[in-house]
Amino acid sequence: MSRNYYIAGNWKMHKTRAEAAELAKALAAQLKGGKHKYLVAPSFTSLEAVGAVVKGTNILLGAQNCAPEEQGAHTGEVSVLQLKDLGVQAVILGHSERRHIYKEDDALINKKVKLVLQHGLEVILCVGELLEEREAGRAEAVCETQTVKGLEGVSAADLGRVTIAYEPVWAIGTGKTATPEDADAIHAYIRKVIGKLYGPAAAEQMIIQYGGSVKPENAAQLMAKENIDGALVGGAALKAETFVPIAQFS
Ligand code: 13P
Repeated sequence: MSRNYYIAGNWKMHKTRAEAAELAKALAAQLKGGKHKYLVAPSFTSLEAVGAVVKGTNILLGAQNCAPEEQGAHTGEVSVLQLKDLGVQAVILGHSERRHIYKEDDALINKKVKLVLQHGLEVILCVGELLEEREAGRAEAVCETQTVKGLEGVSAADLGRVTIAYEPVWAIGTGKTATPEDADAIHAYIRKVIGKLYGPAAAEQMIIQYGGSVKPENAAQLMAKENIDGALVGGAALKAETFVPIAQFS
């Protein structure tokens, strides 16, 4: 398998600028020379401070969301142009907290995906089913719909800047991790969906992260699975002592 592992930390709505910069400094020091791809996504308010720390290191700067328009009368929103100006290299889109708390639908997420790609940044597109959808046997169908609709209109050339994160909603922040086998089965299914849309080579190259209660204790078992190419980490990304062992899993 030629895919590189990609470990990302989603800091969600945590940390002041000083706290965020301190964590970024610890990560930059401890992940120096690390063999995988790394990203941290602080809150908008800490992007500049964290950007100053990770610039020139092997850690990419990510944002957790962005507006579906470049500019205009959109009170409270942040534009991709403003993110780019801060040195942001990738944007997390379609996170389940955006989908379910803030009611973002696939059409809105797709608009953001295309806009971010158009401006040359990378995207981490999150997909994942609710517990009731899993229990109704609909996990694959939900992930397929979110993948297909999220990528609508994305060219094969731009797909190279897209990572998919499978985050089963019932596993996020709950301490309940999907078993490596269950996660791998959905990853394989998503890879098949990419194959149908873009062909077998694109499917083979697609990086698919797992997210949902990833911890130092379960990272290696998850990463050992054929179709799991990294992690999108929430709670355990908030401290160097828990994120670094995940980022350096072996
Ligand atoms: P937890 O690792 O806290 O479950 O969060 C996962 C997540 O939502 C990352 O985007």
